Amino acid sequence: MSLLEVWDLTKKFPVQAGGAVAHLKGTLRRLRGEGLETADGHWLHAVDGVSFQLERGESLGLVGESGCGKSTLARLIARLHDPTSGVINFEGEDIGAVPASRFVRAKQRPRIQMVFQDPDESLNPAHTAFSSIADPLRRLGGMRPGAALLQRVEALAAMVGLPGELLARFPHQLSGGQKARVGIARAIALEPSLLVLDEPTSALDVSVQAVILHLLEDLKHRLGMSYLFVSHDLNVVRLLCQRVLVMYLGKVAETGPTDELFERPAHPYTRALVSAVPAIDAGDRKIRLHLAGEPRSPIDPDPNVCRFYGRCPKGEARCAREMPILRRVPGGAEAACHFPEPHPRPAEARFA
Ligand SMILES: Nc1ncnc2c1ncn2[C@@H]1O[C@H](COP(=O)(O)OP(=O)(O)OP(=O)(O)O)[C@@H](O)[C@H]1O
Ligand code: SF4
Ligand SMILES: [Mg+2]
Repeated sequence: MSLLEVWDLTKKFPVQAGGAVAHLKGTLRRLRGEGLETADGHWLHAVDGVSFQLERGESLGLVGESGCGKSTLARLIARLHDPTSGVINFEGEDIGAVPASRFVRAKQRPRIQMVFQDPDESLNPAHTAFSSIADPLRRLGGMRPGAALLQRVEALAAMVGLPGELLARFPHQLSGGQKARVGIARAIALEPSLLVLDEPTSALDVSVQAVILHLLEDLKHRLGMSYLFVSHDLNVVRLLCQRVLVMYLGKVAETGPTDELFERPAHPYTRALVSAVPAIDAGDRKIRLHLAGEPRSPIDPDPNVCRFYGRCPKGEARCAREMPILRRVPGGAEAACHFPEPHPRPAEARFA
């Protein structure tokens, strides 16, 4: 049994189709002679029918352009959002069925922790670093104030490389890197089996990023946690994750082993994404692939049209009438595309 099994997970947000969207939809309806559009009843499909598994001790990278649903998916798994539909099976139980408001008291709560992009999101400005790290130990771990708690917080601070003398400081007295360490210490305090990390280093400068990433890599090995790691940076994902899930407008475009996916991307969107990363360009992918056209709207999207249609260099008529489903492609990845990139046959691959 996998640590985490996600089936057909969907999160739709109700939106008032105001401003430009209402204007556009109203114009279209008027042109079709259908009368005026009402302002409500519209849904933004942030995560749409996503399925994946995560094994114990495995790291899964979640990538894709801004607005594709990475944070929403991360928050669904960490049970900060309620799903619209679908199953989130964690350690054999459907935690998706427990409302987010009640999940704080669920027995799985200490086993899933989240590290946020902005450490300030998880740190109370009125709490010292010590209180922030002690908080989950007291609230969820049942520890009482005393010598044992003090020792545990000091051990956690040491584990994340936070000097003990900084424990008395408030967030505004700490640097970005130090706050990130407090956020990580807090998240690992209860030794969770799953750590959900939403762009944990993107608010930090490059040199601090590298230090924090090495810390995360080290902690993963020492504590045996699984990571769901959201990042814009494909090189970081390549460094930390064994498998990758590429999202595009709420759907999984491609998923597979990291090396396979970066070396031989099958989905046209993954190809464009990989081609934009100079350090991992190889062979015929040295040329950066530019995407023309406008992204489709995530509001009330047509369920029969590929989400990438209109921007995809390989799009054909079939893509506008049949949503591609995720299918295995040669090499071990899965891609949701009617025309995935053919992989080189073994004979060709030898001379590539
Ligand atoms: N509470 C909400 N209400 C309405 N729409 C939302 C809400 N939260 C997110 N969205 C929308 O859902 C979509 C996915 O947002 P999400 O934050 O998951 O994207 P993301 O991939 O994390 O983007 P980024 O890389 O910029 O962080 C976006 O269109 C966003 O505007
Ligand atoms: S199904 Fe068609 S539009 Fe969608 S990614 Fe594949 S080729 Fe492009
Ligand atoms: Mg995000």
